Amino acid sequence: MDAGKTIVRHALVTGGGRGIGAAIALRLAADGLRVTVLGRNRGPVEALAARDSGRLHAVTADVADAAQVARALADAQARFGPVQVLVNNAGQAESAPFLKTDAGLWQRMLAVNLTGTMVCTQAVLPGMLEAGWGRVVNVASTAGLAGYAYVSAYCAAKHGVVGLTRALALELAARGVTVNAVCPGYTDTDLVRESVARVAAKTGRDPGDVRAEFAKTNPQGRLVTPGEVADAVSWLCGEGAGAVTGLSLPVCGGEVMQ
Ligand SMILES: NC(=O)c1ccc[n+]([C@@H]2O[C@H](COP(=O)([O-])OP(=O)(O)OC[C@H]3O[C@@H](n4cnc5c(N)ncnc54)[C@H](OP(=O)(O)O)[C@@H]3O)[C@@H](O)[C@H]2O)c1
Repeated sequence: MDAGKTIVRHALVTGGGRGIGAAIALRLAADGLRVTVLGRNRGPVEALAARDSGRLHAVTADVADAAQVARALADAQARFGPVQVLVNNAGQAESAPFLKTDAGLWQRMLAVNLTGTMVCTQAVLPGMLEAGWGRVVNVASTAGLAGYAYVSAYCAAKHGVVGLTRALALELAARGVTVNAVCPGYTDTDLVRESVARVAAKTGRDPGDVRAEFAKTNPQGRLVTPGEVADAVSWLCGEGAGAVTGLSLPVCGGEVMQ
């Protein structure tokens, strides 16, 4: 890189309209990147992009649909140029006992969490290889590093994301592209609020007690904040993390250790 020359990079953040993805998008924009946020519903991504229309852009796609992703990427690149940073954050977490995990639930978990990561990475990677520089950060989960009861499909998908991260990191190690994952524990977002409500409805327990039980899985006794996950992603996307690849970084107060 030329000394003194400022490169304005373009990041694509999937699932960027709310929760962890929104925190990552805002953090990368604050870091000086141009950021495209992608989600299936137009409203949340457009609302986020409206917060700083010079630095943020909104596109819509289902991450598991290659044709939709290709269209969204073309739109993103027309706005901010080639994508050098990809954050595969879109995800969903449904729970069920294993014997009640039907084919539909299994496929939904694999589609958004694992196939979506593969589809978006395949779409963006040729441009990174051409430039000889790129950052891919996959938002996996502690469920990508450890087992949890009643979320076998989600766990399988997130373990898949960690495996994909490790394999691709090696494949691209000499080509200027790093591939890493972050593995949050329970984080204070709608996803957790919806899980708390579901468990409370199924068991008749008080939602406050369910939330406190989630927080207890973290040795720090609290939920992780979206901003803490965004800080880890920001570091992995920076120039200084160039020697870091294949890492799955737990962001969970010590719940899971590598
Ligand atoms: N919150 C936690 O405790 C926690 C812990 C560990 C890991 N994670 C992971 O962190 C990531 C973000 O979670 P979050 O808590 O921020 O969730 P969230 O608040 O539910 O947000 C998920 C985002 O993903 C988008 N999305 C969902 N399915 C999509 C699809 N098929 N294609 C494109 N976008 C899609 C949603 O927007 P649309 O519905 O508009 O598409 C939404 O903006 C996920 O990968 C999750 O597994 C979360």
